[in-house]
Amino acid sequence: MANVSIRNVQKAYGKVEVIHGLNLDVAHNEFVVLVGPSGCGKSTMLRMIAGLESITGGEIFIGERLVNNVEPKNRNIAMVFQNYALYPHMSVFRNISFGLRAAKLPKEEVQQRVEEAARILGLEDLLERKPAQLSGGQRQRVAMGRAIVRDPQVFLFDEPLSNLDAKLRHQMRTEIKKLHQKVQTTVIYVTHDQIEAMTMADRIVIMRDGVIQQVGAPREVYHSPANTFVAGFIGSPTMNMMTGRAEAAADGLQIRISDGLTVPLTTGQSSRLAAGSEVVLGIRPEDLTLAEGPSNGAWTITGNIGVVEPLGSETLVSIDVAGQELTATAKGRTEPAVGSQAPFAVNLENMHIFDRQSELAIR
Ligand SMILES: Nc1ncnc2c1ncn2[C@@H]1O[C@H](COP(=O)(O)OP(=O)(O)O)[C@@H](O)[C@H]1O
Ligand SMILES: [Mg+2]
Repeated sequence: MANVSIRNVQKAYGKVEVIHGLNLDVAHNEFVVLVGPSGCGKSTMLRMIAGLESITGGEIFIGERLVNNVEPKNRNIAMVFQNYALYPHMSVFRNISFGLRAAKLPKEEVQQRVEEAARILGLEDLLERKPAQLSGGQRQRVAMGRAIVRDPQVFLFDEPLSNLDAKLRHQMRTEIKKLHQKVQTTVIYVTHDQIEAMTMADRIVIMRDGVIQQVGAPREVYHSPANTFVAGFIGSPTMNMMTGRAEAAADGLQIRISDGLTVPLTTGQSSRLAAGSEVVLGIRPEDLTLAEGPSNGAWTITGNIGVVEPLGSETLVSIDVAGQELTATAKGRTEPAVGSQAPFAVNLENMHIFDRQSELAIR
């Protein structure tokens, strides 16, 4: 069993604390993604788990074992980095087997483990090539092969796909997921890319300035973000956010955004607020859609069409609503004319409401 437990872990470089008492339990075989903007402490956290960085405070367990003072090579982990430095003069076979040969494993076992890894990664026909004769994706697979042959209990990935182009990144995302299904190990994967996090993770850990903001399944953090930071970080295009104040309406409450714009709340939403509350209202672009024909009961706002960006399956539309710049979507083949006005339906049920002061979701 190789669950990973991080208990109140702190890290300071000199006087600067960059990880502030972090707690996280990763289950055996779980695929957990640490995501957050550059500089939030993802690599530092991963390097502490690997033992490449000392821990200022707290405890890290791998399995049942406290590893704070265990050498990296004895932690039973393997790490794959963004810069997967392969030895250029060595063949793929020798690159993958390097660690095993250094550990003086019997020749037959080295052979067998490399063949197994090559089979899992589809590298069987490339074992005699040199890195220069491989594509970017193949090199990345060799780097993973080097990790797999060590049969680690825990895989640590630090932005392994950042150097690849968009198409290859997508392909490798799928490969890493398949790999996880095949080798059944615990994975902690670091990225700044929320799409990687959403598509690969069993659970996502969203970090900001060395503090965990939310931990949850991809759907959960997307549909129920704990605060405005998570709401803005997860999802592309970004959630629209408007500040306003709750006030009494005919039935329940409405949010006054400006003199020209008030947004009604559902009964459920009204019951969670008091008149006078200062809030941030969040509406995802897919919940703000170009209303074609007469609106069948949906609440609509009028938008002045700014930029129109066709994506093929749908179109992103930047609109101005009483001075608020919002991103909306147009489904199907309709494309509104730039400079014109059009009604946009708001899916009120899916609105997110945050406390303006604390920035926490009001649930
Ligand atoms: N060796 C170091 N010395 C001093 N500060 C460091 C060192 N390594 C990282 N930091 C700082 O710690 C913070 C977190 O860095 P890092 O873990 O690399 O972030 P991320 O991987 O999320 O981009 C940053 O502010 C960074 O400048
Ligand atoms: Mg990093």
